[in-house]
Amino acid sequence: MNNIRWPLIQNNITDADKTALVKHIMTSDRFTQGEKVKLFEKSWSQWLGVKHSIFVSSGSAANFLTMSALRDTVGLGEVILPPLTWVSDVVSVIENGFTPVFVDINPNTLALDFESVKKAITSKTKAVFLTHVLGLNGVSKSLLDLLKSKNIPLIEDACESHGAVFGKKKVGSIGFASNFSFYYGHHMTTIEGGMVSTNDSKFAQLIRIKRGHGLLRESTAPQELQEYLGNSKDVYKEFDFPVVGYNFRNNELGAVLGLSQLKRLDKNNSQRNLRLQRFLSNLNKQIYFVDYSIKGSSSYALLLQLRSEHAHLKPQVEKVLLNLGVEYRRGMSGGGNQLRQGFLKTRGIDVNPALYTNTEQIHHNGFYLGNFPGLPLKWIDELCKALIEVGR
Ligand SMILES: Cc1ncc(COP(=O)(O)O)c(C=O)c1O
Repeated sequence: MNNIRWPLIQNNITDADKTALVKHIMTSDRFTQGEKVKLFEKSWSQWLGVKHSIFVSSGSAANFLTMSALRDTVGLGEVILPPLTWVSDVVSVIENGFTPVFVDINPNTLALDFESVKKAITSKTKAVFLTHVLGLNGVSKSLLDLLKSKNIPLIEDACESHGAVFGKKKVGSIGFASNFSFYYGHHMTTIEGGMVSTNDSKFAQLIRIKRGHGLLRESTAPQELQEYLGNSKDVYKEFDFPVVGYNFRNNELGAVLGLSQLKRLDKNNSQRNLRLQRFLSNLNKQIYFVDYSIKGSSSYALLLQLRSEHAHLKPQVEKVLLNLGVEYRRGMSGGGNQLRQGFLKTRGIDVNPALYTNTEQIHHNGFYLGNFPGLPLKWIDELCKALIEVGR
């Protein structure tokens, strides 16, 4: 068997991106929070189909700012979220003072299961924080209708799903607010970076202030925010901090890169989707789970999952991946079941991970492999051939 050296991501920064960066460095004197950041935020909003976007230092920062602003606007209470997500989703809920209410995933979408969300909603529910996993859309009409009828905001973590759609809408433009990551391994990159997007102008202003230390002068419309601001007493206008804030800003170089990358995002996504479909359709369906709801998806990675009755084949699957030189991650999004992670105990949260059986299945039997434009189709075919041999 040939070693094909297949990484999680390749060539995510092109010569065109580098040329754009060099041009900015050689011709501009502005490197932080300037015209390029504003233009990237505007272009992102147009691409996504929302009114406001705020460019931040990472997807985790986007998660954290969103939960912080949610606390200031709706007050403390419960936030429903899945155990299959990234660690920063859980941390941002807890560290902003909310009570996390974990709800299991649906095996087809890998996102929050509708019936379980319905059961978990109480009078204390302040938001549903849904993660669109590895490029799949996690939203359904029944979920949107339910949340609308209960007046509960939906926060979308679309950090792994740039360009996925639900109907005609891109994920990240459906809920009250959304979070994206532009980390190097994602659909598009600003090396490190993230975005908060929303149609709510007050919420956007609040995120803008919180991104920049909580400084009032970061807002372009402070009058809109009066109800959320604390009263500073006898302070200087340049240093008025009326809300809790952080420094989660990005910079001009990140924005130059983002603008350059955005131009090819849609084209790249169709390349990714083609590869996921080829991969899933070539797997042995008796051994591997392939029934994902891929309608409207924008593949982040190739999804490899042993059916539970074939869990004993896991060492053989890993051997195939290692022998072929295919880099992989176990547990899918964020390493699987977050309820198994030790950090929760340091905050007094001790939920039995075994109760979340669908997440547990992914934790133990799920993998993801790199999927990127330019990934040779023959590598996919060669891998599928080797995977078909597993268990024979
Ligand atoms: C679903 C999800 N949310 C949040 C993040 C955090 O993004 P970042 O790495 O940019 O902080 C990630 C990171 O990959 C993610 O996959």
